[in-house]
Formats: sequence, structure tokens, C-alpha cells
Amino acid sequence: MWLTVGILIFSLSVALSSQADADSNIMDRMVNDDRQLARFEAIHHVKKSELDRKKEEDYEEGSSEEDYEEGSSEEEDYEEENSEEEDYEEESSKEEDYEEESSKEEDYEEESSEEEDYEEENYSGEANLAPTCDDGVRNQDETDDDCGGSICPQCIDSKTCNAASDCRARACVSNICRAPTCSDNVQNQDETDTDCGGSICPKCADTKTCAVGSDCLSEVCLSQICQAPTCTDGVKNQDETDIDCGGSRCPQCADTQSCRAGSDCVNGVCLSNICQASSCTDNVINQDETDVDCGGSTCPKCADTKTCAVTSDCVSKVCSSQICQAPTCTDGVQNQDETDVDCGGSTCPKCVDTKTCSVGSDCVSRTCSLNICQAPTCGDGVLNQDETDTDCGGSRCPQCVDTQSCRAGSDCVNGVCLSNVCQAPTCGDSILNQDETDIDCGGSRCPQCADTQSCLAGSDCVNGVCLSNICQASTCIDNVINQDETDVDCGGSTCPQCIDTKLCSAASDCVSGVCSSNICQAPTCSDGVKNQDETDIDCGGSTCPQCPNDKICSVGSDCISRTCSSNMCQASTCSDGVKNQDETDMDCGGSICPQCVDTKLCNVAPDCVSGVCLSNICRAPTCSDGVINQDETDMDCGGSTCPGCADSKTCNVGPDCVSGVCLSKICQAPTCSDGVKNQDETDIDCGGSKCGKCEKGKGCNVASECFSGECSSNVCQMCSLSSFVNGGFESGNSDGWIVGGGKRKSILSSEIQPKDYFPGGLHYDSSTATQHSSIVSSKEDTVLKSLMPKTTHSGKYAWRIEDLDKGGAVSVISQQITNYFCLNIYFAWLAVLENGNHVAINSSVMIIELKDETVGDTLLTRRYDAGAGSNGVDNRFKQSKAYFYTPAWQIEHLSIDSSRTGHNFTLTVLAADCRPSGHKGYVYIDSFGGVAP
Ligand SMILES: *[C@@H]1O[C@H](CO)[C@@H](O)[C@H](O)[C@H]1NC(C)=O
Ligand SMILES: *[C@@H]1O[C@H](CO)[C@@H](O)[C@H](O)[C@H]1NC(C)=O
Ligand SMILES: *[C@@H]1O[C@H](CO)[C@@H](O)[C@H](O)[C@H]1NC(C)=O
Repeated sequence: MWLTVGILIFSLSVALSSQADADSNIMDRMVNDDRQLARFEAIHHVKKSELDRKKEEDYEEGSSEEDYEEGSSEEEDYEEENSEEEDYEEESSKEEDYEEESSKEEDYEEESSEEEDYEEENYSGEANLAPTCDDGVRNQDETDDDCGGSICPQCIDSKTCNAASDCRARACVSNICRAPTCSDNVQNQDETDTDCGGSICPKCADTKTCAVGSDCLSEVCLSQICQAPTCTDGVKNQDETDIDCGGSRCPQCADTQSCRAGSDCVNGVCLSNICQASSCTDNVINQDETDVDCGGSTCPKCADTKTCAVTSDCVSKVCSSQICQAPTCTDGVQNQDETDVDCGGSTCPKCVDTKTCSVGSDCVSRTCSLNICQAPTCGDGVLNQDETDTDCGGSRCPQCVDTQSCRAGSDCVNGVCLSNVCQAPTCGDSILNQDETDIDCGGSRCPQCADTQSCLAGSDCVNGVCLSNICQASTCIDNVINQDETDVDCGGSTCPQCIDTKLCSAASDCVSGVCSSNICQAPTCSDGVKNQDETDIDCGGSTCPQCPNDKICSVGSDCISRTCSSNMCQASTCSDGVKNQDETDMDCGGSICPQCVDTKLCNVAPDCVSGVCLSNICRAPTCSDGVINQDETDMDCGGSTCPGCADSKTCNVGPDCVSGVCLSKICQAPTCSDGVKNQDETDIDCGGSKCGKCEKGKGCNVASECFSGECSSNVCQMCSLSSFVNGGFESGNSDGWIVGGGKRKSILSSEIQPKDYFPGGLHYDSSTATQHSSIVSSKEDTVLKSLMPKTTHSGKYAWRIEDLDKGGAVSVISQQITNYFCLNIYFAWLAVLENGNHVAINSSVMIIELKDETVGDTLLTRRYDAGAGSNGVDNRFKQSKAYFYTPAWQIEHLSIDSSRTGHNFTLTVLAADCRPSGHKGYVYIDSFGGVAP
């Protein structure tokens, strides 16, 4: 049994512990336990210690010492169990385990009912009296005398009981009614569930019955069941530090909510158990800080090694691998005290040009202007670039002056850098400085340079000779007085003699051989010295008077006689082969010798044979030499060679004059009556602009210069009169013409030849020639009458070839014009050809031909016959009955082009009756001439 009780106690303890385990806040639970204990004490007016003692007494009362001892040992076991429990607590409790214990408790309940049975057995021992509830005897089903059981009143404390219902306090512990406790495994007092809830007992665990939230450990009573605490139940439970926040399970609390530690707070800041608004000094990473109180948008930037997200979180502005990096001079960020990215300030290299700076020392150039590093210059007042001193020295700037710093001589104006200070130059510093032309020599300060050393001027050299900037060894052409020269490059033993005005010591120093007052004197022709180019003392040569005879000479000109023979001046002649005396050229010219021929020297015209002395040369005579020579009749004119002379010049004959007129040896002005073709006359005294028109055959240029108005081949023509003889028959006969005629006989029309009918011709017949053709005056043709014009074309007469009768006759006429210069040939004709119904070869015929006898060709042919069918005539003709006739004079016009100018032309006209001789044919001709009829 005590084992059972022990188990029970253990179970209760476990239950309590389990509840406590459910609450992670051990302290709270302890406080809570204390509070419940206090409540219990208040109700039962006992102290905890008394309660404990009472518990022990109860043990003694309800059990034998033995039992107790047993129980005590059991208790020891319990203690062991308890220690196990502690271990268990450390592991943290599990509800499941608790349930296991609970089932053990149930087992206990079974044991307890066995006990009841036993008691009944004991009770059944006394059934002799009618039991009551005041018989002082424990009977019926009383659990103690007159109490307990189903019939009697409940027992007071310390009475025996079997069940809680036996006890007034409704607590039956170890079969003893006890004051109710929160561990009596009975839902009594105002517990809402067994040993929990209500005002006295500990709060109930989850799932236990409850009335209000305060009955529950979770403080959450829903549907009278304690709920497992959540972070949204509106109750501060679990280990929350404020309602639904804080603790190990719930979200962190907002500002002003309660907390125990920073971890309870959203902002991680718990001060005086209140969550605080985040700040940059709360020692917590909150807000958007990237590390404690730094980084993000609000707080200061983080120091090196702190966590960061972006570069702006870091003081160094460098966030790498989410850690603020210590700034470096190569991190690509302007940090530390850099004035620009990775440069400037106290740590990093100086900035290059154009970078930002604060002071000069931030810049490589050491020049910071307008907060920008400036390109270094040699005038920035700063020692930068590779200057050795401010704005001087180094490769870029001018050299430094004395006392300024330097690294090498090249840094110094004077080229002397000693102990890193530019030194004043000296002539012994082994440096080419000052105005030295070579090292330590030349220039204005140092000694002159030796040969081969550099120089700028002769004064730089010992020898005074500077050639191509090199001091030269002295010579006689170095333009310097050196060696034993008495003047520059002359005199003394080595050099040539000096010219006049140069310094000398002795006569031998001078070219002139005259040294007076140490000056070479200009030679004179009276200095008693043979100098200059004198050939003898003070004579000969180019300067001095010529030498008299017997003096030494080189050439004739050295001699007065101009005759130098065997180097001695000789007496002169006009044949000594020397230009001497007053000759203008060798042996000619002048007053003594003959005149000079062309090309020889002369002074005046009389020196020359030609009389022409031009530029001191005798010239061949010309028509422009201003001299009357050759056969000129006057100066440069007349004679056979030169142009004619102008009017009033002297002449011998007409051709000596321009005018062609020489009268009394004087050229006359031209006139139009001087019998000479002059002025612009085109022929003698005619043509041109001044004189009258020219006659036929005279020269002309234009037609207006001719009386005839016709100028052809520069000859005045008279076409209407020349060549043509009686061309219009106005003589009233056939003068100028050749007339012929004869019998046609059986000659076919096509075979009639005019030449056969002229005198001497094959068919010439004089009676026909003289009788058939005739001069005609202006009348009507007796055959055609008014159908044709009058029988003359112009003038009084014309010529009819052949008679008006039939009879088989042929008549001809012709005239040749010779050497014909005119441009035109005209003539006019009328014809009558009677048609006897003959074929062409038998019909009457007419032939007109104009031939160029010179060339031999025919310029014009009119050949018609009166053959039947009108095929033998053209539209010049009309027909009347049997007659073909010309109804008008036919004017023929031939233009004679220049290719035929001057040729001979022959006009021939033939008329023939028909072959059978029964029909007539005749032709009129007129106006043969050079002008239009
Ligand atoms: C039965 O009753 C007697 C007398 O009342 C008591 O002394 C005895 O201990 C009881 N026995 C049990 C077993 O209870
Ligand atoms: C032209 O006629 C003239 C005079 O009859 C003659 O002297 C001359 O030779 C002729 N010329 C030609 C080319 O026939
Ligand atoms: C031409 O005339 C001749 C002589 O008069 C004649 O004999 C001949 O028959 C004529 N021919 C023609 C074709 O008429």
C-alpha cells in the first residue's frame, strides 16, 4: 500500500513537475508555487513546515510503525525516483511521460477499490445492531465512526475515509480525510480540474477544464478547456515577455512592450524590461544597420571589420565579402583622408593632375588650385615634376641659378652642381658654362681655347681663328693676325705681303713694297719702286704711264710706243703689229694709220673704212647705221641696197626715192601725175586712196579703182568691151564673128558637127555661108509672127542663123573671146524648128555650145531637134502646128569662176533644116557679152 502511496506522491510530484516543465520560466513557476502554498496556508492556517509535519503525523495515525517504516523505505525509493525526476526535468518534460505516470495513478485507483472491499469485510463483522450515524460505531458503510460512506455525513478531517466523498473537505488522503489540497488528486475546493484551476490551486495545464483564463497555465480558457498557449491568443503566456511577444517562441516585442532581454524586442533593445526604440547607440543591430549601431541609412558608417552590405555602410567606403575593409590606397574608393580616389591626404600617394586636392601636398605636382591638382609647370612656384629646386632643374624646367638645389650639373644654369647646390661657374670647373665655347675656355671670361676646341668667334681661340666652330691652327687665310703677320693674314715670313693700308714692319711686308709709318702704302707711279703691275719702275702695267722706249715691258700697252719686243719698249709704226700711236686698233685708225676694217676698234667714224663706228667697233655698213655709205644716195637710203629715200632726200634716180621721183637729185613728193606708181597707187598714177581710177589693164585691188568697175586678178577689166567683138551685132554686120554654112545632105541629126560647116570644114559651102544667115533688125518673125518676141533682144540688131526657108541647109556662127577675165558670159537666143513629122535623126536641128578652149571642155550645150513626138525639145519650147518655137528670148548666163579666169571661150550656134529638106530650122542670137543683156 505505501508503495502505492509513494507512487502517488511521486506521481503528484511528477505532475507538478510536468506542469512546471511545461513552463520554461522556472522562476515564475516557483513564485507561483509559493503563491499557491501561501494560499493553502491561509486557508488551513498552517505553515508549510507544519503541513509537512502534519503529513507525517497522518502517516503515523493511519498506519503501524512498521508500515510507516516500510513506507519510509518506500519514501526513500521515492527520493530516488525524485532524483531521477530531476534528471528527467533536466531533459525537459514530455506530456507523454506524464500520461504514463497518470496511468500508474489509475492502477492505484484499482488498488484502492480492493482496499474498499477489505473494509467492507471488516465492517461485516458487526451487524448485530441497527447501525445509525450516531451510534458511535463505525458501521454501515461508514468510513469512520458515524461518518463517511453513502449514508452518513461526511467525515471531518483526520477521520478515516475511503474516498473523497467520505470527507467533508472532500479530501481523502491515505484513507484519512484531510483538508483539501491542490495535490489531493481530487477536484475540490474551487478547482476547475483536479488539483488545478480556481483561486487556490496552480493553474491548469493545457486540455484541463477551466472556467476562466486565469485557471490555465496558458491563461487561455476556451470552451472551458485550457488551451495550449500561442503567440496569437491575446494572452501573455508561455515565456512571452509581453502579450504574444518576446520569449523563445513568439515574435519579438515592439517598442515599449515588456521584455527580459534584448532578444525579446524587435529592436533588440531591452532597457528596464521595456523594449526600446532602436537607435544608433543601443548596442544592437537593428533598423537597417549592417552591424551594431552602424551602417545602413541612419547610423554612422561602420568601422573596419564590421559587417556591411554596401560600401556606403563603411567608414572606409569599402565593403568586401560583407565586411568593412580597412581603407587602402588601392581600394578604388576615396576614403581615409584621401582628397581623391586613392590619392592625396596623409596616407596615400599624391594625386595626379586634375584630381581633387586640398593642399599642394596632395598632388604629385604639389600644385593644388581650386581644389584640383594642376599639371605641374615650371612657373607654379612649387618644387614638382623632377625639378631640383622650385621651378628649375630636372628634365622639364629651366636650369637653376646659383645656390639653388640640383642633382647634376645639367640642372644648373652654369652647369655646376656641387654638393647638390648650383655653383657659380668658373674657368676651372671643368664644365662648359658661362659663355665658354669649350670647357673652361673661350667666351668673355675664360682664357682662349686651343686649336680643335670649340669656339663661336675667333676671339674664343688662342689663334683667333674659329672655323666651323672649331679653333683652328693659325694660317695665312684665317682672317686673324697671328704667326708673325704684320696685319691680318699678311706680312711677315709666312704669309703673303700686305695690301695697301695694312700694317707692316718692312717694305717686304707690303705688296706695294712700300712700308711707311708701318702702313703699307698704295703704290704710286712715282714711288721709285717697281710695284703694282708696273713692268719697269713706275711705268708700264695697267696703272702707270707707259714706259718709254728701252724700258722693260710685257706687252705693247706697257710702252708709249705700244711696241714691246723682247720685253723692251720699241719705237712704233703702222705695221708693227701693235696698237700704238693713236691707233684705234692694231695698226689702223687714228690720225696716223689707215682706217680700220669692220669689227676693228675705233673711236670715231673716220677710224673705220665703213665710216661706221658703233660702240667703238667698226661696223659693216647697213641701211640703219646713220652713215651715208655703200651706194646710198642719202643717209641709209637710196642706191641698190637700202630702201628708197623719203621726199627731199638726195637721190640719183627715181628708184632712189620712196616716191620713185628724183628731180634735180632731190626725191620729190609723189603725185598722181608723176608718171610713177607710188603712194598707194595700184598702177602708175591711178588707183589707191589718192589717185583716180585706172584704165583697163591697169593694176587694181578693188573694183572701185577701175573705170570699168571690174577688178579681176588685180587687173582692171572692161568685160563688155574686151574680148567680145560686136557681141550684140550692133555693128550691123558679123564683124568679130566667123560665119559658115553648107548642105546638110544625108547627115543624121546626131552627126551634125558645127566645125564641119566653118570655112575649111568638111561641108563648108561659101554661098550657103554668105546667103542663108543674116543680120536682122527688130521685127516680127515672119513665120511665127506674134507668137515670138521681136527678132532682136537688145540694141538695133541681132543675127539669124539659117534662112527662113526649107532646103536642107546648115548655117553656123561663132566667136572666140580670149584671155577672158570677166566673171560672166551672157547671150540670148530664139529658135524655130519645123517638124515635118520626121524622126529625130531626120528633123531640123539647132546646136548652141559654149566651150572653154583653154581647158577643152564644154560649159553649155543646147541641142534640140524637131523630131516627132516632141522629144527633141524641152519646156523652153512651145509648139504651134508643125513648129517648135521659143516664145521668149532665152537668156543664157554662165558664171566664170576663178579657175577659168583668163581662159579662151568660144560660142558656136548652128541651125539646120531637116534632112529630107522639106522643113526649116533657124536661130536668132544676140547680146553676147560679159554683162547682163
Ligand atoms: C474489525 O472491527 C474490529 C472492531 O471494531 C476492529 O478492532 C478490527 O480491527 C476490524 N478489522 C478490520 C480488519 O478492520
Ligand atoms: C587664146 O587665144 C589667143 C589669141 O588667139 C591665143 O594667142 C592663145 O594661145 C589662146 N589660148 C588658149 C589657151 O587657147
Ligand atoms: C530620112 O530621110 C531620108 C532621105 O530623105 C529617107 O530616105 C529616109 O527614109 C528617112 N528616114 C525616116 C525614118 O524617115
